[in-house]
Amino acid sequence: MLAKKYEAISVENDHGITWLMINRPDKRNAMSPQVHLEMDEVLDELAVDPQTEILVLTGAGNQAFSAGQDIKLYFRANAGNAAARHKLRRASNNWRWQKLSGFPKPTIAMVNGYCFGGAFTQVCACDFALAADDAMFGLSEINWGILPGGIVSWNVAQTLNYRDALYYAMTGDSFDGKQAKQMGFVNFSYPKERLREETIKLAKKLMEKSPAALRYTKEGIRAVRFMNEPQAADYLNAKSDALRYNDKENSREEGMKQFLDEKSYRPGYGHFKRKRASA
Ligand code: COA
Repeated sequence: MLAKKYEAISVENDHGITWLMINRPDKRNAMSPQVHLEMDEVLDELAVDPQTEILVLTGAGNQAFSAGQDIKLYFRANAGNAAARHKLRRASNNWRWQKLSGFPKPTIAMVNGYCFGGAFTQVCACDFALAADDAMFGLSEINWGILPGGIVSWNVAQTLNYRDALYYAMTGDSFDGKQAKQMGFVNFSYPKERLREETIKLAKKLMEKSPAALRYTKEGIRAVRFMNEPQAADYLNAKSDALRYNDKENSREEGMKQFLDEKSYRPGYGHFKRKRASA
């Protein structure tokens, strides 16, 4: 699938689902400079990889999604090197936010264990987040004397409610997957042994739907959050037209035909039978 071999990350594809993992389990999948540079590169490849229909981001091993930035290799090792810091900060923000939040296919963060500090950004960037009940989340920056930087504070200010954002950022207390679900930080939490199977179920559900409609829907929801009503109405009209023009599967016509003419499904109960463009 991919020509290049990566070291600090790993990529596996299984029936349309690409499992993208930080691969440093011994370091609780903390994000080293190499993780950032490799992620920044691979996401461009996966964005146009035909085998990647759904992207699942997770951590290798059974313990950690990611323990955040590698305090030794990301922070301390580059403390006196402004050029390296600049390059790494850009790569780090690029993949965790710009490339993931703008990824053209559905993305799922599967939080299988520790999730600290900088790792909150990629959880927020993914379209969906599923956690193990016993996953451990924490804005631990305050515990070692810094603030949630990068764009973590901006992410949690948008995704958590105001009180929770301040509470967890200022106390450094952790919360588990069940609490993350209650707070709306993740969509669902499951016993750890079911997490992967539930992730696959969600991925398969998404694969039944029109890829173009999914892409335009996620882009629409993300964009209108920052618009007023007239701007949103105008944008969504244009977006709908663009979708009809760009949808190679002609989903809208197919969906209407199967409901109105063939009476083979009801949109309120489920999805029409997708006709893949290549079929
Ligand atoms: N940066 C650098 N190294 C890290 C790391 C991080 N964020 N998180 C874990 N590691 C390293 C540890 O230093 C240790 O390395 P060693 O084996 O060379 O000593 C190894 O990973 C295992 O970590 P350990 O602390 O022994 O595992 P644990 O299961 O007892 O605890 C954590 C796991 C995640 C709770 C703990 O490692 C931790 O608090 N990490 C820091 C989390 C953090 O504050 N992240 C925010 C950064 S922005």
